Amino acid sequence: MGDPNLVLPGLVIRTAQEHDLPLLRGESDEPYLQFLFQTAYAAMQRGEQVMWVADLPGNGIVGQVFVQFQSVRPTLANGVDRAYFYSFHVVPEYRGKGVGTRLLQTVESDLQSRGYALVTLTVDKQNERARLLYERNGYHVVGEEVVNVNSEKVNCRWVRIEETAWRMEKRIQPTFGVAVLLPST
Ligand SMILES: CC(C)(COP(=O)(O)OP(=O)(O)OC[C@H]1O[C@@H](n2cnc3c(N)ncnc32)[C@H](O)[C@@H]1OP(=O)(O)O)[C@@H](O)C(=O)NCCC(=O)NCCS
Repeated sequence: MGDPNLVLPGLVIRTAQEHDLPLLRGESDEPYLQFLFQTAYAAMQRGEQVMWVADLPGNGIVGQVFVQFQSVRPTLANGVDRAYFYSFHVVPEYRGKGVGTRLLQTVESDLQSRGYALVTLTVDKQNERARLLYERNGYHVVGEEVVNVNSEKVNCRWVRIEETAWRMEKRIQPTFGVAVLLPST
């Protein structure tokens, strides 16, 4: 992993703007991703999320990570002291240059300044490289999280299949008060 300031001079980590949305990426090109980005952007407008992007002038958006302050799953985010990041992605040709680490550092320092004490994430059990990156950055596995529910016919009966991922978290030191998520008016 390199220092992005040396490897990628000019790299800026900033919040997403509406015109960035078509440039964001995921591991697949499924059409629902654009819907997810639009939904996240609307949530950011309401103050419920932050979408961070890594912008390399002349090259465009090379990475992204979104942070959710409150979730229907309080083990991930509760709007008080625990926040969750997802959609963490760096464009393949820019991986291994420190962009992901810079995004993680930005997420953590922003959450510290908002008064959060815990950062959480989920990672596929097969995604060992990502898990190792998180461990190197101070996260540890604290449990499992159901990330997908499907049905499958086994012996003529529908069976519920749950796909689980690792839930990881890291304790951070809030630098400003305690976060309180106010409902939007
Ligand atoms: C995980 C990811 C966001 C990290 O971004 P990055 O800019 O490559 O991260 P850094 O350069 O700061 O750190 C590199 C480390 O990331 C980890 N990593 C995880 N997946 C990787 C991948 N597909 N390619 C390169 N590095 C990867 C490795 O530990 C690597 O360190 P190493 O080169 O010593 O093995 C990026 O690799 C990616 O987009 N991967 C595919 C999507 C993904 O798995 N997202 C996480 C979902 S939980």
